[in-house]
Amino acid sequence: MKKLTYGLLLASIMVAGPALAGGDAAAGKTKSAVCAACHGPDGMSKVDANPNLAGQKAGYLVA
Ligand code: HEC
Repeated sequence: MKKLTYGLLLASIMVAGPALAGGDAAAGKTKSAVCAACHGPDGMSKVDANPNLAGQKAGYLVA
């Protein structure tokens, strides 16, 4: 009986784990809609004054 309880506990953690760790892409899309207005929906701005957000080099971002 104890073994079964632990087994069920482990199984439920394994099922719930990815759901808890994963992000919410849909929520991110909603939140970034305002950014897309200036930076472009794909991160490539069509306006000269606004920088592209996509495709930036990692070294630049770190600096
Ligand atoms: C009203 C237009 C506008 C909106 C809305 C906007 N940005 Fe910007 N963003 C700019 C401009 C203009 C710059 C350049 C500012 C500068 O260089 O002084 C910039 C710069 C940036 C940079 C720095 C890019 C670089 O290469 O230096 C990041 C990152 C950024 N924005 C992210 C975001 C995010 C995330 C959002 C949404 C939460 C957002 N922006 C919303 C206009 C906007």
